[in-house]
Amino acid sequence: MLRRRGKWGSQLGFILAAAGSAVGLGNIWRFPYMTGENGGAPFVFIYILCVIIIGLPILLAELAIGRHTEKNPVGAFKNLAPRSGWFLVGLLGVATGIGILSYYAVIAGWTVGYFFKTVTGAFSTQLTAEDSKIIFETFVSNPGLVMLCLFVFIVMTAYVVRGGVSKGIERWSKILMPTLFIMLVLLTIRSVTLPGAVDGLRFYLQPDFSEITLTTFAKALGQAMFSMSLGMGAMITYGSYIGKKESLPSSAAWVCFSDLSVALISGLMIFPALFAMNISPEEGPGLVFVVLPTIFARIPGGLFFGTGFFLLLSVAALTSTISLLEVVVAFLVDQYRWSRTKAVVSMSALAFFVGIPSALSLGASTWLSNIPFVNRGFLDLFNIILGNYSLIIGSFLIALFVSYKWGIRAVVAEVRRENNIFYFRRTWAFLIRYITPIAILAIFVYIMITGNYF
Ligand code: PHE
Repeated sequence: MLRRRGKWGSQLGFILAAAGSAVGLGNIWRFPYMTGENGGAPFVFIYILCVIIIGLPILLAELAIGRHTEKNPVGAFKNLAPRSGWFLVGLLGVATGIGILSYYAVIAGWTVGYFFKTVTGAFSTQLTAEDSKIIFETFVSNPGLVMLCLFVFIVMTAYVVRGGVSKGIERWSKILMPTLFIMLVLLTIRSVTLPGAVDGLRFYLQPDFSEITLTTFAKALGQAMFSMSLGMGAMITYGSYIGKKESLPSSAAWVCFSDLSVALISGLMIFPALFAMNISPEEGPGLVFVVLPTIFARIPGGLFFGTGFFLLLSVAALTSTISLLEVVVAFLVDQYRWSRTKAVVSMSALAFFVGIPSALSLGASTWLSNIPFVNRGFLDLFNIILGNYSLIIGSFLIALFVSYKWGIRAVVAEVRRENNIFYFRRTWAFLIRYITPIAILAIFVYIMITGNYF
């Protein structure tokens, strides 16, 4: 898939790869946990708005930058704005990528751990929410185990990225991703038919707008960026491998649509079950790991479903960690002429070491679980700073860059190459020039004034 400066096999190949980067733990793990922590339905509503009004235009901009320059994020900015400071946006992206990879791989490691737990029958058919919580807490407070899971996941990622992202992953994703989707739908059907599910549906779908603050906006926007892999150059890098004939707006729309639908269905799977089992929506990063086994315990063939689900979720996470590592590797190979192997080995080792505090922060180390002053665990803190704010800042700068430095016309010309049609060209230009920067600025000013970062 990602041959050096190669091309995707087809438009479908690209859409699948980009959707593979976008769809991952961000949709199935992060989205429900953020929604639960931020009040449910109003958050969901703003999230959808952010995806369409801010996310989609940025996605298109990143793809255009990537395809035009055929470069990694740093190289792309250097190419379009030589002798200026814009390359720092690319550098921020690369650093953010390593940081996100470090804790993302921790959660991805849990999915692998949960796959083994399910196969070996750790979850009985009588499983209660309390049991599930205890199993989760015991699992994450075992330092050796969580570090082993992190290690395994980083090695898997490194292996695939080292091979220039093998054909295998591309071929398998085509089968596995739709399977995951079907499983999500089936589990959702079980979840919404559990007694007591209605309260969950209400929490998830019936917004009470009086609860919305700009902090909700900041979280929802960050979630949109995270979920769509925006603001750090992953889509610039993936865009650099798209053929010149392909239509960027339709690719972007497909990626956006698949990402949004997986997120929304995940919420529909989690919240009814969560309310039916009396679990708190503010459970935090462990949320889906506590809720899911209780659903598996209540369906025929739960062992099969549970095993399959965690396996597929690991694959979905892998197609996302691949894109995170690929950004840094493309940067080092392009800009510093490192060999691919050297870049992969050193950067995955770095991600592993940076990931250790996150891995230990869910109970294995008291200090890391509750950092003084911020009252959040280390992983949670990384998730907010890098997964939210850093991506929002990156997206803000990318919007400014295409609007006022590289230029709207240049983007339009790139999109229209080979007689492609740029649907909604004016709407896109309006959103990226005015709405995106103003919205992000307003959010930042508000949280600076109120000090309401978390
Ligand atoms: N979008 C991925 C997910 O939802 C995570 C990701 C973020 C990947 C940023 C690449 C860049 O799981």
